Amino acid sequence: MAMEYQHKQVLLVGLACLDIITVCGHFPIEDEDFRADDHYWQCGGNACNSAVVLQQLGDQCNLMACLSENCPQSDYILQKLTNIGIKSNWCIRHIGHKTPISTVLINKKNGSRTIMHYSWLPEITLDNFQNRVQFDNLDWIHFEGRRKNMLEIGRMMDYIRLRYKDRIKISVELEKKDENSLQLIPKADVIFIGKDFAQAFGHDNATDCLRAFYPLAQSPAIMICPWGDYGADGIGPPQSNIVHADALTLDVVVDTLAAGDTFLAGTIHSLRKGESLLKSISYGCKLAGTKCKQRGLMFEK
Ligand code: FRU
Repeated sequence: MAMEYQHKQVLLVGLACLDIITVCGHFPIEDEDFRADDHYWQCGGNACNSAVVLQQLGDQCNLMACLSENCPQSDYILQKLTNIGIKSNWCIRHIGHKTPISTVLINKKNGSRTIMHYSWLPEITLDNFQNRVQFDNLDWIHFEGRRKNMLEIGRMMDYIRLRYKDRIKISVELEKKDENSLQLIPKADVIFIGKDFAQAFGHDNATDCLRAFYPLAQSPAIMICPWGDYGADGIGPPQSNIVHADALTLDVVVDTLAAGDTFLAGTIHSLRKGESLLKSISYGCKLAGTKCKQRGLMFEK
């Protein structure tokens, strides 16, 4: 198991963007003019953030995202990914569009992150996917459920299930509500349902969310719902009941940007190693909590 696991790789399909981060001593009021405490750039996007964490945990990652051609922001992202060891040769470069950018305000008082996201790049298609990806070395493909691209993501998931069901696990993250998002649930082995997604469907806690959505999954799938400082719930075989992991208790919260992406990476890492669902979500919670205590996603070795 260990040898096999070490040689195989993970592919994450979704967003890579540039996060332009400003740290403020307080949350601004409209039309205010004040001096910020800090400012820096960071790679962002759910798939990219999770890849950055997974790669540090020892899982060789490939990232498939859309970026613009001839653009310093894209070059920055690709250089950072290369420095960390993430493979990005299946990324799609588009001419005539700007790289996706998020302007992020981090409030020093409570670590909250307020994101204004800009992206008008075309999304990844099945055509891109089947023409570029080399499936031989992969044992896990994770899809970020991107709003407005759910149908195409569903087609990519079908493509894998049809050809590689026995040897490639599929996970998907549903974070934002979209008319076609529920269609992805029966196509995945592991489904992450975000708090915003659950709330958009009227569920105000993780347990109710799993009770509502798990019947849509195809057995023996696992479904996981992280819920901020409550921690996370999960359901899946061999148990038929919902299991729960507490979030880390934090005295100080420095930066919550990408805490959810960190949870997802930690959980996938642990499941991929063959750990139980409970152990995996507990590890995800621990890693996400550790992330909130520090700036950014680079963990100390
Ligand atoms: C965090 C994040 C940021 C990005 C934004 C996109 O989860 O991926 O890195 O700017 O969300 O929605």
